[in-house]
Amino acid sequence: MEKIDVAVLGATGTVGQKFILLLQNHPYFEVRELVASERSAGKSYAEACNWKQDIPIPKNAGQLRVKGIEEDLKSRILFSGLDSSVAGTAETRYAEDGHLVISNSSNHRMDPQVPLVIPEINSEHFQLIYSQQHRGAIVTNPNCSTIFLTMAIAPLHREFGVEAVNVTTLQAISGAGHPGVPSLDILGNVIPYIGGEEEKMETEPLKILGALSGDVIEPVPIKISAQCNRVPVYDGHTETLSIKLTSNPSLAEVRRVLDGFSGLPQELGLPSAPEKPILVLDDPDRPQPARDSWLEKGMATIIGRLRPCPVLGIKMVILGHNTVRGAAGAAILNAETMVRQGYLKNGDRLPKGQRRTRTPSLSESDRASG
Ligand SMILES: NC(=O)c1ccc[n+]([C@@H]2O[C@H](COP(=O)([O-])OP(=O)(O)OC[C@H]3O[C@@H](n4cnc5c(N)ncnc54)[C@H](OP(=O)(O)O)[C@@H]3O)[C@@H](O)[C@H]2O)c1
Repeated sequence: MEKIDVAVLGATGTVGQKFILLLQNHPYFEVRELVASERSAGKSYAEACNWKQDIPIPKNAGQLRVKGIEEDLKSRILFSGLDSSVAGTAETRYAEDGHLVISNSSNHRMDPQVPLVIPEINSEHFQLIYSQQHRGAIVTNPNCSTIFLTMAIAPLHREFGVEAVNVTTLQAISGAGHPGVPSLDILGNVIPYIGGEEEKMETEPLKILGALSGDVIEPVPIKISAQCNRVPVYDGHTETLSIKLTSNPSLAEVRRVLDGFSGLPQELGLPSAPEKPILVLDDPDRPQPARDSWLEKGMATIIGRLRPCPVLGIKMVILGHNTVRGAAGAAILNAETMVRQGYLKNGDRLPKGQRRTRTPSLSESDRASG
């Protein structure tokens, strides 16, 4: 398979760096272009980036010249880790120019025509790109706490019906980007407020679990109450939740359904797919962010402490790696799914305007079938 040229937007940031790391030697994608702010534009990536990953900057990425947000791009797929202050307008413009933008930012997630996808759950929502008016398209992945919450409730909703969820998060500092929360504010402390986070957790799962009817998504009528906290943890968002189910299964049945969950990425054997998207741990003191965030290469939702809840029925603790499955890894898995489902092939599965486009990016002949 010939690789598809991709760009990383916001390449110097926390999520951008994770994209560079995860896209190294990727079988479908080749990083050709990097974009960041005017502070970084014109410099080599190695020079512009305050690299914080555990391995050295991949050589090919380190040598690329960082482009500014106003410069035209040639790549077919743009992975976006742009700051939300600029992502809204920039991603729309890139999509209008004919690129497929796969975004981590919150700006377009709830737009009615923009798919918000976890491919194990709602890959059929990718079809919404056909109703976008751009020559290219925008696709999004969920907020870094929403994704793990939704992964935990999706199999339970399918099997037993979910009526209500009460969730409290303990979110890592890396979720605030770099340099993020000042050390004097977070060390030895808990900050019981993350702007906009609770609203995202209470609305995004309803869209993801919603049914696609024509080009409209009917949200599911689940009540979610979220309380979000920033804690002095480097990586890994922990969430404690209680769930009210419609039926009354035993804990063993709930455990079986969660542990047995699998979806399209597993069926297709996609390169970034975790073997098991949900891992259930039985040790009484797990999951822990420092010990378990990297299970399944950071791509799984880890569930533990499954037990009865005297108020809502069942309760549990969940954990996920916020910059991997919560951000860059989720976007890459969406792109892999779209490639394998044929969305990037020429023909009738392209976004509307694309068949008429003169832009080279999305309209090139398919280079990644298979
Ligand atoms: N961190 C997470 O766990 C996480 C998880 C899910 C989603 N997200 C979302 O992903 C996005 C990136 O988050 P992050 O944590 O990686 O943030 P970050 O570390 O602050 O990085 C932001 C990136 O955006 C670039 N940028 C800032 N202002 C810009 C401008 N005016 N024009 C062009 N580029 C600009 C920065 O470039 P310079 O370095 O040149 O300033 C940097 O590359 C945000 O929308 C965030 O909400 C983050």
